[in-house]
Amino acid sequence: MRFSKRTDWNTEESELARAHRLRVAAGLPVADLTASNPTRCGFAFAPELLSALGDARALDYDPQPRGLAEARRAVCAYYADHGVAVGPEQVVLTTSTSEAYSFLFRLLCDPGCAILAPQPGYPLFDFLAGLDDVLLQNAPLVYDQGWQIDPEGFRRAITPRTRAIMLVHPNNPTGHFTKPWEAEALGGLCREFDLSLIVDEVFLDYGFGEEASSFAAGMEGVPVFVVSGLSKIAGLPQMKAAWIVATGPEAGAALERLEVIADTFLSMNAPVQWALPAWIEGRGGIQEQIKARVAANLVELDRQLAAAPMVNRLQTEGGWYAVLRIPALGPDEQTVLRLLELGVWVQPGYFFGMPPSGWLVVSLLGEEEEFRTGVGVLTGHFTR
Ligand SMILES: Cc1ncc(COP(=O)(O)O)c(C=O)c1O
Repeated sequence: MRFSKRTDWNTEESELARAHRLRVAAGLPVADLTASNPTRCGFAFAPELLSALGDARALDYDPQPRGLAEARRAVCAYYADHGVAVGPEQVVLTTSTSEAYSFLFRLLCDPGCAILAPQPGYPLFDFLAGLDDVLLQNAPLVYDQGWQIDPEGFRRAITPRTRAIMLVHPNNPTGHFTKPWEAEALGGLCREFDLSLIVDEVFLDYGFGEEASSFAAGMEGVPVFVVSGLSKIAGLPQMKAAWIVATGPEAGAALERLEVIADTFLSMNAPVQWALPAWIEGRGGIQEQIKARVAANLVELDRQLAAAPMVNRLQTEGGWYAVLRIPALGPDEQTVLRLLELGVWVQPGYFFGMPPSGWLVVSLLGEEEEFRTGVGVLTGHFTR
């Protein structure tokens, strides 16, 4: 069989994955500091969430490419709660933000075109872009008393093939919210080079400070596409519901094209769309639990790190992760393997585009006792 070049991946199990699998299979203890699945972190989900799937209207098949109007209105209600007026005609439903990205890449890029994304960042982008024959260009985030965008770094990375700048607001894993001055600088680049802005707001509601504003409000003279979904805002990744909100110049034309892309797949199912209003409206219950967990684990992390001066937590403003600076004495892969032998499972920073030595990422989502144990093993390793 002749395979496409775009699927020419190395699918061999990595050394880290293998070591983790063997340790779990051997029944040895592993405190998991990588947990990112909210359905498996001991949160209480109301049983009524499932009743919402029993709406009898879902027995009718009404193939609406942008999604059922009632479901799109629920998305608008979410933005109204954030003080942003979004009309249902601006919304296209998708089964995941991954699918939303894929729709946007196909809307904006021909094969070989490029999208600019800050690094460190979410590792799935490489795969998503590759599957749509799009090149991912990286522009570094810099760390200086907190993470920041380097607008000159973005400018240098732009080429004639660049079609869009992508942001994650707040970023995964750095927890960096795009500040108004950064948004203005990137908006200026979009206007100058005729680029669109794609903003992933899946963690928008998980800020540690004041409520952050949504890019769905738009930006003068810039086509802005916001993507978000239930995975994080309602802690329901299994329900497979997400969306794109389009604003700015030519949003109407963009939406017409997105409608054709969506019509080609019609991937949304009816029960989920009818349930969406209840899930969006009921998001507070799970968000409160997640916020309390993340805040408690962050306090615990700092408490233990106070006794481990070799490890520093970088500033974070939101999201579910913390980035740790560790002594850059060797490849982080070896450190992660050693930590696994000691009983804690963490992610090396290079998974997220950080340098190969000196960086770890821990999830703040896991259950408190497991988290405390895992951080204890980690700090113990660095204080010996
Ligand atoms: C920044 C970011 N965007 C999107 C997603 C995935 O969302 P979905 O399940 O809607 O594809 C994740 C998942 O971790 C993420 O970290």
